[in-house]
Amino acid sequence: MIDDSKMQLIGSASGLVEGGVGLRFDVNDQSGELIPAFVVRFDGGYFAYLNRCGHIAVQLDYQAGEFFSDDGRTLICATHGAEYAPDTGACLGGPCYGVGLDAIEIVCRDHYLYLVSERYRVVSSATTDSA
Ligand code: FES
Repeated sequence: MIDDSKMQLIGSASGLVEGGVGLRFDVNDQSGELIPAFVVRFDGGYFAYLNRCGHIAVQLDYQAGEFFSDDGRTLICATHGAEYAPDTGACLGGPCYGVGLDAIEIVCRDHYLYLVSERYRVVSSATTDSA
């Protein structure tokens, strides 16, 4: 059971389609560092990660929100092509060398996405603006 008082609005889920453009947002971690993050829709669910490659800590998307491979089955880093499982963030191949994405716990309620992790605070809601 999720404590509603801990839910932080990320944005509307209505524009997210399977394997399509993701929603970007920013969080603060517990040290106050500003970190970009994103949500994608995959296999009927919503999954959120820090937007930070397991290879080098750069953002994955070349065009804002473009996280999926051409076939919509994996998340892919635009810099060197590391691939990740959309539903777990696990490294599937390429230069992530087994280092997966950092997942963020979210829920979808009434077509809106909320962060429920106590490790992060939402500091800007979802956007498709470039970095
Ligand atoms: S920085 Fe992502 S694969 Fe190298």
